Amino acid sequence: MELIKAKNYEDMSRKAAEIIAGLVREKPDCVLGLATGSTPVGTYKELIKMYEAGEADFSKVKTANLDEYVGLSGEDKRSYRYFMNDMLFDHINIDKKNTFIPDGLNRDEKGECERYEKILKSLGDADLQILGLGLNGHIGFNEPSDHFPKATHCVRLERSTIDANKRFFSSEDEVPKEAYTMGIGTIMRSRKILLLVSGEGKADILSRVLSGKVTPAVPASILQFHPNVTVIADEAALKLSEL
Ligand code: GLP
Repeated sequence: MELIKAKNYEDMSRKAAEIIAGLVREKPDCVLGLATGSTPVGTYKELIKMYEAGEADFSKVKTANLDEYVGLSGEDKRSYRYFMNDMLFDHINIDKKNTFIPDGLNRDEKGECERYEKILKSLGDADLQILGLGLNGHIGFNEPSDHFPKATHCVRLERSTIDANKRFFSSEDEVPKEAYTMGIGTIMRSRKILLLVSGEGKADILSRVLSGKVTPAVPASILQFHPNVTVIADEAALKLSEL
């Protein structure tokens, strides 16, 4: 894994946006795997600035997001579809028909997972997958488990994940307990992976991801086996990593 040390959140965001924009310039019809959460917000802001400055053209880019809460519609402000529109898609020249996210309103679990898998297959392996890191080591919503799930599936969220994400909801009861997520197998087939990590709160889990045992109990540890991973982490997040 290549490690790029960033000074702080802003520096991490700029460095990540430069890599993404570089790929978009090199391959205008690339497939980007996108993530939600607080971590990539700054990166998306930088990409919007680059688009506004005429430095990035997203007209041919296709995107596939990692995950979506079960039970939320794309119009719900707390859904990941709404987040992506609001944080990125509404502000750049991407064709929304080329942006894909699981449908949280489809209660037919098997049907929705199969539908999203078909979309991912038709897009082909992502040229670049952006990942954040959950406090428990999850990527997408692949929670700690006894195996690495291959394809899109429906997960029950861990208590710690519900706790971490309740800040986006008015009460804990409102946090959906299930989500659709891309599988680890699909994430691992991406040509390149960019893992973004910021803040002291992630220092412990990041050190386990970078140099701990590869185990489904820490899902992101599998990234040690991917041939082309770049980790961009800020000083606070790297506090407990021996490098
Ligand atoms: C969320 C998302 C992940 C995200 C992670 C970290 O639950 N499903 O894709 O990477 O948790 O979130 P944050 O960036 O807000 O710390």
